[in-house]
Amino acid sequence: MLTTQQPIFRRFWHAVMPLSQLADGPQPFTLLGESIVLFLDEHGEPAALKDRCCHRTAKLSKGWCNKGRLQCGYHGWVYDRTGRVVEIPQYEEGRRILPDFKTPAYHCVARYGYAWVALEDPVADIPQIPEFEAPGWRTIFQFYERWETSPLRALENSFDNSHFSFVHRATFGVAAQPKPSKYELVENDTGFYAETVIDAANPPQYQRVSGVSDPITTRHMRNAYFQPFSRRLDIEYPGGVRHIIINCFTPVDDGSIQLCQWLFRNDTEEDCPAQLLIDFDEVITREDKDILESTDPDALVDVRRRGIEFSMDSDRPGMLIRKKLMALLAQHGEAEVHRGLPGVKIMLSREGAGPSCGAACDTGPTLTTTGATAEAA
Ligand code: FES
Ligand SMILES: [Fe+2]
Repeated sequence: MLTTQQPIFRRFWHAVMPLSQLADGPQPFTLLGESIVLFLDEHGEPAALKDRCCHRTAKLSKGWCNKGRLQCGYHGWVYDRTGRVVEIPQYEEGRRILPDFKTPAYHCVARYGYAWVALEDPVADIPQIPEFEAPGWRTIFQFYERWETSPLRALENSFDNSHFSFVHRATFGVAAQPKPSKYELVENDTGFYAETVIDAANPPQYQRVSGVSDPITTRHMRNAYFQPFSRRLDIEYPGGVRHIIINCFTPVDDGSIQLCQWLFRNDTEEDCPAQLLIDFDEVITREDKDILESTDPDALVDVRRRGIEFSMDSDRPGMLIRKKLMALLAQHGEAEVHRGLPGVKIMLSREGAGPSCGAACDTGPTLTTTGATAEAA
């Protein structure tokens, strides 16, 4: 699926940038292939416009904020948060500015310390994060970084417990136990809920993170998918420590995402310092990033396209994500757009189109993708 080619994703909220970055002035971002500029308005609320001045097309992100309005850096035209030009420094006092002097504006709100943007009228709310700044919980902004992969690849990885013994064999993966534990999957309106208990290596350097001192511990994983590209992972260790990760895999273009990751903990800074938690998850996150950037971002969604990707039982959460995405596309009159269709172009903000392996280089028996979907349901 080429994420930028599916218009429905323009109708969801996406976490795009920590508000703290906007304090330095307007910032560019690419969302679903659209170049946008973010800035803080006169009330300190984030705003998002197309990153294109309607005078001579300069990037507005090269400008600056002036009393909560955005001034183009080329000739100084000034925009408000609705995208209208409200001041032209070259005009004489009192001269009217025509109302069609404007650039497109997008929905933009502040939530959970981030600016969230919907390019068109949103069809769903921003997921709830009850732990954010709640009593008894620490809020830690863990990661905000670019990954050269697609949201579906990152999402399916986040529900995939058959990669721990391989990708994470140097950290928490138990190399001797490659057989994954089984997820219980429960569908709901926003996606699904998946629960399992896994064994996890717990060497001395991880014991402040887990709050237990056994060499191998367990993680009770309560994992939830929120359409289209977010997930919540609530890890509970046997001593009661909770480690809750929220991810938004924000689609930048067809080959990259912005990883936005929050961490919530129910222990204290004395129990386990925030920096240690960031360092702990960073190593694991690097392991995932490295392997995901080797995959083809044009992930198969419509499993009727046989012989492209082959699946096994433990791929059930990933197959259920596909089923949910297929239903979403169908509900909005769309079919999966992928590189194999005639005339389709991949939108990339980096050089090259990533790995080229697709239908043409896949051979071998067609396996159980359809069956796995049915099972997951
Ligand atoms: S290009 Fe922006 S004011 Fe001229
Ligand atoms: Fe992983």
